Amino acid sequence: MKFFLDTADVVAIRKAKEMGMCDGVTTNPSLIMKSGRDHKEVIQEISGIVEGPISVEAISEDAEGMVREAEEFSGWGRNIVIKVPMTKEGLKAVRILKDKGIRTNVTLVFSPSQALLAAKAGAAYVSPFVGRLDDISQDGMFLVAEILDIFDNYDFDTEVIVASIRHPGHVVEAARLGAHIATVPAAVLEKLYNHPLTDRGIEKFLADYEKSKK
Ligand code: G3P
Repeated sequence: MKFFLDTADVVAIRKAKEMGMCDGVTTNPSLIMKSGRDHKEVIQEISGIVEGPISVEAISEDAEGMVREAEEFSGWGRNIVIKVPMTKEGLKAVRILKDKGIRTNVTLVFSPSQALLAAKAGAAYVSPFVGRLDDISQDGMFLVAEILDIFDNYDFDTEVIVASIRHPGHVVEAARLGAHIATVPAAVLEKLYNHPLTDRGIEKFLADYEKSKK
């Protein structure tokens, strides 16, 4: 499973890359706002760090505007993928952008039918938001399982990015289901490394080593 970082924080991206845990990056307007940086400037910097795909979200609500933005954003770096909202206009843009050779990530996916339509439109990625479904007492990971089942039946090239990840359990479940990608917030990536028994084990070994020194 590929790990994308769900952040516009370049320090976190550099750290994850150093550990070999950053196969790509996803951003959205809220994450860019959180970084406190200029949109174009921060995407250009990320593109200089990461070789894999970097998702940048279109803001326009009509297909024409999304295509215009996609053409502009694509010039900001190598491997830019355009995040397009799961709307009729968004899917229109996906089709046009595919013909232009620009890859898209259909975002804000909350149902299997939306994922199916996005794949048919030619999206390179679909992003089911598992945490936001869990927030309204629906099972986000069940949606991922449904989408993977559907995609398994056909020859779609579309990859599933498990998004809106809130905790390590989401990442583990994504891997169990065989999702192509998990886009992980930096804080969740940090938690994936940890286990209290690992810490306790190291402490004990170090203490015993000290005791055995002559
Ligand atoms: O990649 C989409 C993700 O950033 C949304 O996460 O936590 O705002 O639901 P969240």
